[in-house]
Amino acid sequence: MMAARDPHRFVNDLGDEAVERLISRLESRAKDSVFTSLIDKYSSLLLLTDPAKVLEVGCGTGAMIRSFVRSKNFNGHAFGVDQSGSFINAAKSFARHEHLENRLQFQIGDAHNLDFPSASFDTVIANTLISHVSDPARVLEEMARVVWPGGTIAVFDGDYASLTYAFPDHDFGRQMDSALATASFNNPRVMRDLPRMLDTYGLQLVSAWGDAVVEIGEGSYFKSFAETYAPYVTISGLMAENDVDSWLSTQREAMKSGTFFASCNYYTYLLRRV
Ligand SMILES: C[S@@+](CC[C@H](N)C(=O)[O-])C[C@H]1O[C@@H](n2cnc3c(N)ncnc32)[C@H](O)[C@@H]1O
Repeated sequence: MMAARDPHRFVNDLGDEAVERLISRLESRAKDSVFTSLIDKYSSLLLLTDPAKVLEVGCGTGAMIRSFVRSKNFNGHAFGVDQSGSFINAAKSFARHEHLENRLQFQIGDAHNLDFPSASFDTVIANTLISHVSDPARVLEEMARVVWPGGTIAVFDGDYASLTYAFPDHDFGRQMDSALATASFNNPRVMRDLPRMLDTYGLQLVSAWGDAVVEIGEGSYFKSFAETYAPYVTISGLMAENDVDSWLSTQREAMKSGTFFASCNYYTYLLRRV
């Protein structure tokens, strides 16, 4: 059996077609109201200085940080860093298209070794990054280093051990839920570990909460999720291709007939650097 390789962690090893599919997924996810309401909720709670200097680590195509820069309460300059040159090129092009290039800068970089001096930003964001990185503790340490003392770190991600799609055969459905989480996320349970990691890096918990993303009847967010990530279950050798294909057809049928059900918990941590 091949080892599971989280596509976002190993994005630089993927072919062009697979990268294009991830770009589409990131952009479509950012238009999905079920999901964006959670991001808007924590973004609106960030107390920004005026002008603000904000960094998004693991920005992908820049979908999250573009919407942040467009928001009413933002005045200042934002930066996005991602390990993937293809994502960064896409991010620059989307930002140009939206005339945001004067307020938003993107660069290639590794979240484990950020190329910024210490205490450079008043807010640092990791939006669905921490579940994908090789070493979450090191990424948190880097985020704590580049934020000013008194500044804010926001960490938002899914708890993928809670990811579930309804399936008539419960045992098979449970196996598929677990395979999807293993194949797609290097650290599917990391959001449960964060409280134990904060002290070491001089971070204080300001607030934290959970939200469930749930789709019943119709599927949109979880449709794109299943179509993007189910192939990695087969690629990882976790389940047989025909089993994964039949699971996916059952999900598509359920969406057509209005009998679909899927859910996953997402958590937000707002942290202060002491
Ligand atoms: C699910 S995407 C989230 C993208 C973006 N934050 C958003 O919400 O649209 C995860 C991103 O983390 C990036 N990533 C994973 N490991 C990284 C690392 N070590 N350094 C920088 N970026 C990384 C991937 O390239 C990918 O763009």
